[in-house]
Amino acid sequence: MKIENFFSKRNKGVEWSGIRIMFALADKIDNVINLGIGQPDFDTPEHIRDAAKLGLDQGFTRYPPANGFQDLREAVAVKLERENKIKADPDSEIFISVGAMQGIFNVMLHMIDPGDEVLVVDPGYDYYSQIRLFGGVPVRVPAKEENRFKIDPEDVKNAITSKTKLMILNTPSNPTGAVFDRELLEQIALLCKKHKILVLSDEPYEHIMFDGNEHVSIGSFEGMKDLTISIYTLSKSYAMTGWRVGYVVANKAIIDEMEKLMEHMVSGVTAVAQRAALAAISSSQECVKNMVARYAKRREIIYNGLNNIKGISCIKPESTFYAFPNISSFGMSSWDFAKYMVNEHKVAMVPGSIFGNNGEGFVRISFATSSDNLEKALEKIEGGISSII
Ligand SMILES: Cc1ncc(COP(=O)(O)O)c(C=O)c1O
Repeated sequence: MKIENFFSKRNKGVEWSGIRIMFALADKIDNVINLGIGQPDFDTPEHIRDAAKLGLDQGFTRYPPANGFQDLREAVAVKLERENKIKADPDSEIFISVGAMQGIFNVMLHMIDPGDEVLVVDPGYDYYSQIRLFGGVPVRVPAKEENRFKIDPEDVKNAITSKTKLMILNTPSNPTGAVFDRELLEQIALLCKKHKILVLSDEPYEHIMFDGNEHVSIGSFEGMKDLTISIYTLSKSYAMTGWRVGYVVANKAIIDEMEKLMEHMVSGVTAVAQRAALAAISSSQECVKNMVARYAKRREIIYNGLNNIKGISCIKPESTFYAFPNISSFGMSSWDFAKYMVNEHKVAMVPGSIFGNNGEGFVRISFATSSDNLEKALEKIEGGISSII
């Protein structure tokens, strides 16, 4: 008897994340410098950890409300209005989720029927399994290197059909570090309004911006509030990936569905993690600025270092802690390149093809690690390349 025969058809849409596969490889090798990890290397700031400890002593050990604590939703509403220019009612339009990931999953679950087309940016974050799990069909909109990994509204227009239900945007972008500016987002918003397409705006890197770039939330645009489901997380801004707290802002009807299902799903987000999230959102944002300043220094190291290696070219990331260098001149697939670097030179990175067909010929390198590690990794990469050219 094969237990797999019992699996639902739906289950077949889910694939192991390519990043996981890469890390499994790296784990088998000693002393690897891992530039594949998509999370801050900093500890969660002390005042946030203290708030969780206090929460425990104050008895935040019981079931929380399914949509999150009232005071946290209120603090989120203040932040949204101040930073994202989105006005949201904390009682009906905000939902506290298990990271951004649960928000994304719930959107697919509530909105996608078999055959619905979902526009995704390629290369872009891997939303494919969530889309396919509910029978959705991903339709790729290219983000070309020559366009600094921004999409062209003309390509969005050409990708729209009568089956298009949702467009997923992720600005600032993982893996390319591209920022979609106001003008570009306005053009996309016009198309979505015209064709009645929902937008899932996944914004985990909203604070990790360089060179004075502005983060713009498409949900703040005229006529876009009801069409947009905006998703945020504490994970990246506050070095809180393990706490698993995020939030969703959307029309009341969608938030109601999320709250209803939450009871049947996981009952709510861990109470003390929500207390930590409240401290993070409502305190001064000095800690975030300090971490971003550190990323900015590391960005210089990786950007200059990569561009100094013969055969590699790298666009300067405008945001996030990822660089997305072009390695196509070596004539290897991005998987072969990444495997070669980890197996032979002990430096792990993520093959670009994991992020879509247009990611082929690139690798994602995270600079959320010490400057020392980055310098060492650059030497290893250079050494690796000198033996293949
Ligand atoms: C674009 C993007 N969306 C969502 C997530 C998930 O974030 P969270 O930790 O909040 O679930 C990540 C994490 O890497 C991400 O890069």
